[in-house]
Amino acid sequence: MIRSFQPADLDRVCDIERSSFPFPWSTLMFIQQHHMNPDGFFVAIRSGKLIGYVIARLEGKTGHLLNLAVDPRFRRQGVGGALVEFTIDRLRKEGAEEIWLEVRISNHVARAFYSALGFKEKRIAKKYYLSEDAIIMTKKLLHQNL
Ligand SMILES: CC(C)(COP(=O)(O)OP(=O)(O)OC[C@H]1O[C@@H](n2cnc3c(N)ncnc32)[C@H](O)[C@@H]1OP(=O)(O)O)[C@@H](O)C(=O)NCCC(=O)NCCS
Repeated sequence: MIRSFQPADLDRVCDIERSSFPFPWSTLMFIQQHHMNPDGFFVAIRSGKLIGYVIARLEGKTGHLLNLAVDPRFRRQGVGGALVEFTIDRLRKEGAEEIWLEVRISNHVARAFYSALGFKEKRIAKKYYLSEDAIIMTKKLLHQNL
């Protein structure tokens, strides 16, 4: 099941974040995201347990996927894919024609994951993360349901 983030989810989200990224978002960053973008933050629940989350927002006609992670114990079970597809559906309904994201160049798992979902590696953003370049990946959303 995928549902909207609730403040009581914060500790679980931060635990997953810390086990997923070398430079995790702080608790404050999640609180700020929820505040600024309350309709863009969703969590995946299985057997009552929060096992993943996604944050995305609409920027003009483009969706921007800001954060995504799945509890390491529940990876390779389709949870990340379900979160992205859910987000794509939502953004498309809001008028997005494309979705983009940035990913660390060293994050080969995420690059393979997004490629499997139909994202294309568009360009390199030099020193996006200060110490590391990012790859900008995009996916066109028009006509997906035709
Ligand atoms: C990237 C991430 C969200 C993927 O979540 P997931 O639930 O494991 O992904 P799914 O099970 O939906 O995988 C869908 C497809 O992506 C590809 N994929 C996923 N993980 C992969 C891996 N480790 N190696 C190669 N391909 C992979 C596969 O094609 C997979 O389909 P398959 O399992 O049928 O082969 C998860 O690995 C994660 O949380 N990573 C750490 C955080 C992160 O890097 N987030 C993205 C930052 S931009």
